[in-house]
Amino acid sequence: MADWRILICDGLAPAGIELLRQHAQVDEQTGISAEALAECIHLYDIIVVRSRTKVTAELLEKASRLKLIARAGVGVDNIDLQAAKIRGINVVNTPVATTTAVAEHTIGLLLALVRRIPQADQIMKAGKWEKKSLMGMELAGKTLGIIGVGNIGQKVAKRAQAFDLNVIGYDPILTTEDFNHLRIKQVSLPQLYTQADIITLHTPLTPETSGMINAAAFDQMKPGVILLSTARGGIIDEDELLRRLNSGQVGGAGLDVFAQEPPPNQELLHHPNVVVTPHIAAQTKEAQTKAALHAAEEIERKINGLPLRWQIV
Ligand code: MLT
Repeated sequence: MADWRILICDGLAPAGIELLRQHAQVDEQTGISAEALAECIHLYDIIVVRSRTKVTAELLEKASRLKLIARAGVGVDNIDLQAAKIRGINVVNTPVATTTAVAEHTIGLLLALVRRIPQADQIMKAGKWEKKSLMGMELAGKTLGIIGVGNIGQKVAKRAQAFDLNVIGYDPILTTEDFNHLRIKQVSLPQLYTQADIITLHTPLTPETSGMINAAAFDQMKPGVILLSTARGGIIDEDELLRRLNSGQVGGAGLDVFAQEPPPNQELLHHPNVVVTPHIAAQTKEAQTKAALHAAEEIERKINGLPLRWQIV
């Protein structure tokens, strides 16, 4: 066995850990605190993280032997990419492992909202049989606007098309040919805001997208619009969302991600037209096994000096 030392900082499916053990010495410290990580990071060549571990510039200053940060998952907003780049540390993620799970969860949140499934469940469990307050809305014929038509946005589109939703999308990277191929109508952001009955977010959190769903964006949206986010907290201005829910301009919100996790804004969570889940969109056995294996395979490539498939830095 080579001298490579790997630290697993967050939950990783066993299949990935088994693969890593064939190539290196692996220490599992799932849930390691920021302080403990800062104390031991100098011992490791590779760390494996999910979104919980914050890989800051300050932490990387101590990472004298670190060569690779493997993110088992998609979002890399918890990693200071610039600091990694300056130090010559590679960063990889697993961009395709969890896309199906996240797309399915997005549709799940939408169905839960428009058919009032959580309320119906609570009513029946309270021993009541009540239909009047549980009037729903059909998806067929409505317009779904997808902001960010990447791996996940495309899978959401495919599922939405099966529900006979008209799918429109905004993505600054995709070409018109890409949109045509996906059978998604390409629109500008203002067009999406004004045309969509349902808006779903599938962009990373970047300086450009941080706070993009703000008062100015809400002002352009249709009355009663439904907003979904399984992307990243911080893209939606949550205080503004609450105001718009209270005024009725926003008809409902399905949220899996929050600016702060766990979210302190209980009023938003308890709003009757909000369905919330604790950042579990990617949390399926299948997705987590794939993410662990894809991360482990990238690490194997790094150890063997092969080109990385999902290199971000
Ligand atoms: C992701 O970015 O992959 C998901 O949000 C799940 C996670 O943070 O692990």
